[in-house]
Formats: sequence, structure tokens, C-alpha cells
Amino acid sequence: MTYQNAEIAKIAEVLKSRIVEGASLLRSPELKSLFDAIKTIDPSERSAYGQEINKLKVELQDLIDASEDSQLATQSPIDVTAPFDINTPKSKRPQLLSVEQGSIHPLMTELELVLGIFNRMGFTAVESRQIDDDYHMFESLNFPEDHPARDDYDTFMTVEKDKNGKQFIAPAHTSNMQNRVLRDNKANLENGEPIAVLLPGRVYRNEDLDARHEHTFHQFEGVYVDKGIHAGNLLATFKTFLSEYYQQDVEIKSQPFYFPFTEPSFELALSCPFCQKQGCSICSHTGWIELLGMGMVHPNVLKEAGIDPLVYTGFAWGCGLERLVMLKYGIEDIRHFESAKIEFLRQF
Ligand code: DAH
Repeated sequence: MTYQNAEIAKIAEVLKSRIVEGASLLRSPELKSLFDAIKTIDPSERSAYGQEINKLKVELQDLIDASEDSQLATQSPIDVTAPFDINTPKSKRPQLLSVEQGSIHPLMTELELVLGIFNRMGFTAVESRQIDDDYHMFESLNFPEDHPARDDYDTFMTVEKDKNGKQFIAPAHTSNMQNRVLRDNKANLENGEPIAVLLPGRVYRNEDLDARHEHTFHQFEGVYVDKGIHAGNLLATFKTFLSEYYQQDVEIKSQPFYFPFTEPSFELALSCPFCQKQGCSICSHTGWIELLGMGMVHPNVLKEAGIDPLVYTGFAWGCGLERLVMLKYGIEDIRHFESAKIEFLRQF
């Protein structure tokens, strides 16, 4: 390419000798000076001059692309970690926005810790689901039809029924997975191994919202079945987990409760990790914090999954993840988690 204007021709030579510098050449002071000079050019020549500098820009861009392509030809063709095909010339690659990059949500960071602790105790994990049916939410869990205990769950369900007359349910607890994992892992028992599964999931309840109640939250369910399992195993397992999670010795206290799917059922309280049972505002000056529901899997639940309750027994629990994390960090309002408030998220 030749240039009529002597200054353009001179700068073109200089810039073409520096093509390896890549796209930054297009922002070079030399090129800028040509553009800046437009105002000083005689109006009758201005248009021709303008066309020539634009031509120079295009020529430089083509040379830069060609040079990058030839450099890339010598590189490995696949980088599975790259966010685009690495054969794309640099100038055509997606530009990273110059905004802050995101980070992992604190609940997911904490869930990874929980999974890690239970994994080391021999539990595998199966994620729960976002939509389910009456059978898995209630019936397989020994909730008789029309039993008032169903009302405790403030369940969101579809108004419309499908062609089989079935309504769909946004799971209100992770216990909806119990029947599935008991069935799917029955073979373990026949092979002399326990069923040991952790079931993390997002759950939904049509609740009145306040600092302790949110319509969307997370639970992790634990299910453990084998020969000769008793409530002592359950309490020891959960105490070990809590001590690991809070990195301090904790005391636990169980009190009788009712769930249709466990017999006996307990509510577990934990010694307040903030005041070592001295009493503080977080534990309402009682020294104890009620944390979760648990119990020995009801024989009907085992039977429904095809497991003989006369041979095998097991325990289960359902723990709210938010509650656990709020206690760890002294978070005062559960609604922060789903609020997308950047000031909150930045603290983790
Ligand atoms: N599903 C119960 C709830 O959300 C919690 C629960 C209690 C789960 C006892 C269990 C259990 O597995 O054994 O309120």
C-alpha cells in the first residue's frame, strides 16, 4: 500500500516495522498524531487525508491479525480452560469487562465444608431436586393422606394437575429424597455395607418472612442405614460434625419431637458457640440453640423402600444450612443470603 501524503507514508513505514506489538499499535501516539493533524490540513485536502489515515488503520489491523494467526499456528490447538477458542486472533477475542469478577456465594462455600466433613465420615452426596410430587414429599414418608402434619410444611404446589391428576410440588424439605436413595442404595445392605448418603438441596416454603424465615432456603439431609444402628450413633455422628464445623467442642441436647417419618424423633439443640452456655442475645439467654430435626427412620419408610425393618435400622436428619452458617458468622437476618446485597456478599 502506498500513501500520497508524505507524513502518513513515513509513519506507515515506522508502524509496519513494529507489527509484533499487536493491537496496541492502533492506539500508538504516532497514529494519534496523524488523526490530530486533520484540523491543520487544508480543507480542500482534508477528505483525501482522512481516507488515507483510515486506510492505514485497516492495513495495520490486517497485518496484526495475520501476524497473530501465524504466531498461533505454532501453539497447541486446544486449551480446555480458555473461555474462547485460542485460535481466535487476539483482536477478535471477547473483551473482559473491567468490572469486578464474581465470587462463590457464602452458602455454597459452607456447603462444600459440610460435604467435606461428611465425606470423610463415609457419606456420599446426592443433590436434591427443585420439583417433585406428593408421593416423595409426603406419602413415602409415612404422612397419612390429609394428616395435619402436612400443614406444617406450607408447601408450594401447582394448582393445575397433569393428565394423571398429579400436582407438582416445590420440595419443602430434603426428606423428599429419602425414598429414592434408600431404594437406589439397597444393594449396599445386601453386600454388607451401610447406606450413608448426604442430600443437600434448595427447599421452598410459603412462610411469613422475617429475620428467621425465608421462602427459599437450603437443607442437607443425612440418611444412614445398616444392621444394629441406634440413636447413639446418630447423636455421636452429628456431634462430631458440629465440633468439626464450628472448630470447637460443642455440647448437644436432644429432646423428643414428632415427625411422621422417624420414630423416635428428636429436636437437637447445640450449646451456644458464642457464650459457652453463659447466655447471650443469640441464644436468647438460654445457653442452647435449637438446630434441627432428626430421628430413627420409621419402619414404614424403610418398608416403603423395600428394606426389611426387622433386619435393618437407620437414622436421618434434616438440617437448615442457613441456620448453621448464621450461627457460625453471627449473621442476624436469614434474608441477607438471597438478597443479592453486594455489601453482604463482599464480607465473605
Ligand atoms: N424434614 C424435616 C423438616 O424439614 C426435618 C427432618 C426431621 C428430616 C427429621 C429428617 C428427620 O430426616 O429424620 O422439618
